Amino acid sequence: MPPKKTTLLQLLPFPVLPDFQSRAARDCHVIELWNETDPDAVIQAHRDDITVLVTSAMMSTPASLIDKLPNLKAICSNGVGYDSIDVQHAHKKGIQVSNTPDVLNDCVADLTWGLILACARTLGRAERHVRANQWGRSSLPLGTKVTGKKLGIVGLGRVGQAIAERSVGFKMDVRYHNRNPRADAPWTYEGSLMELARWADFLVIATVGGASTRHLIDQNVMETLGPNGILINISRGSVVDEAALIEALTNGRLGGAGLDVFDVEPNVPDALKTLENVVILPHIASATIETRQAMASLVLDNVDAFIETGKVITPIPG
Ligand code: DGY
Repeated sequence: MPPKKTTLLQLLPFPVLPDFQSRAARDCHVIELWNETDPDAVIQAHRDDITVLVTSAMMSTPASLIDKLPNLKAICSNGVGYDSIDVQHAHKKGIQVSNTPDVLNDCVADLTWGLILACARTLGRAERHVRANQWGRSSLPLGTKVTGKKLGIVGLGRVGQAIAERSVGFKMDVRYHNRNPRADAPWTYEGSLMELARWADFLVIATVGGASTRHLIDQNVMETLGPNGILINISRGSVVDEAALIEALTNGRLGGAGLDVFDVEPNVPDALKTLENVVILPHIASATIETRQAMASLVLDNVDAFIETGKVITPIPG
């Protein structure tokens, strides 16, 4: 008799990688939850068999779901962020959790620069101006020069570093704020977030999300960045106090903001949609074909490695 296949509960499809399902089905009995009309009943029926869960940074994987699966051994998530997964709870139960680090660094950093340019050079507004047949009929305000300015980065992880590396062509001075300085980083460390905000023209948030960074960027930080400063957030909406952000942008105490992430996605506050000094995107920093394929492939590599060796290859540390 062939050995019993691993039962894998998959919460979301990966159409970007057309052979995802056939690769997964080679070694696993895959429960495609999004195709089920009564997902709760399916989970209940297979609860004792499921040992691997495939989820995503964009979905919630709470303790209550983990507790429904008494024999769960590995959670393989699509995405680098893991604030939506109760990792602590999983680890307490001896469940490994993997994410997809590194493969998205370049695309997230590229999009960050897209937001910097879009904010400073008013790309969204200028594009809307042309589409509304206003070119030649009404004037647009001038933008702000990017080259030669000061770039502050909050969170110099692998994404933060990729953002900093791209500053060379823009001849920018770069400083960063982390809990600790990085010995391998050529950029100046700033131990005080407030001092970094005071110094910077552009303040990019590239730190992790979750309880430890909730509202790290508060009214004080934004007002210190000031009326000519531009805030860019590609990390998590929770890091920025969104109500204070709207207030500061509306009253001109913050110059502008470029946002790929929001507090409660996909619900972007109406106030942000009406402001001209903000660029808003629907959490697309990693959304290229190449990167999304690499992420999906790494999810599968983690599943395969877990089945073959009992260990995922990109574990989230405990
Ligand atoms: C991540 O990987 O955490 C991104 O935010 C999702 O695209």
